[in-house]
Amino acid sequence: MEKTPNHIGIIMDGNGRWAKQRGKIRSFGHKAGSDNVDRVVSYAFSKGVRTLSLYAFSSENWARPKEEVDELMRLLEVYFKKFLKKVLKNDIRLFVMGDISALSSKLQKIIIDAMEKSKNNTSHVLNIGLNYGARKEIVTAVKKLIKENKEITEQSILENLYTAPFGEPDLIIRTGGELRLSNFMLYQGAYSELYFTDVLWPDFDEVELDKALESFSKRKRRFGALEEE
Ligand code: FPP
Repeated sequence: MEKTPNHIGIIMDGNGRWAKQRGKIRSFGHKAGSDNVDRVVSYAFSKGVRTLSLYAFSSENWARPKEEVDELMRLLEVYFKKFLKKVLKNDIRLFVMGDISALSSKLQKIIIDAMEKSKNNTSHVLNIGLNYGARKEIVTAVKKLIKENKEITEQSILENLYTAPFGEPDLIIRTGGELRLSNFMLYQGAYSELYFTDVLWPDFDEVELDKALESFSKRKRRFGALEEE
């Protein structure tokens, strides 16, 4: 039987190089990348994936030139507004993990509205990492536990991460050829299967996702234990 991951995390890398290959500015790649989000989300959900966690903007991405950051924020606004209709129609819960307080008040409002309107949807979760960094997420969880005078355990930390309601990724995909996690879902990704591809994010289509799903279905997940006889 084919195994499908319940939850996939994706580090969407390579927009800039995709644009450069075409002699265009980086923002052109981000636009193509954001169009590709729609394609991959629809296809993944149609294949039975329940939760998708996408790394859209890391807490380190603020270091990029202002024009690029502004363009990414603009694309996110457009995306959230446009996607909300689809989310509500298809019973998708839209969630943002990360510190959204640093975003423009306009974008914060759009995000809060989308999260609120879709919070009772249960068929799928689209979780977008925005101003997200896994180390900060872990530190915030631990500080909260200390403040509440609660015991610090592996489980209690897990329960205080952004992803607590929808669990750990079974598979983490990174496009764009780099072999690292770049501060993405470090705690909840402890036992995730990893899939790296050289394909740049705007070119990561249905065929490429199928390759990742096929690779996942052949993995034997042991979670540190021995394989059963
Ligand atoms: C990495 O490519 C990509 C990003 C930093 C941003 C990802 C954003 C999107 C795909 C668009 C907006 C997202 C949504 C959810 C609508 P890079 O710029 O690091 O590429 P490079 O490594 O080739 O320079």
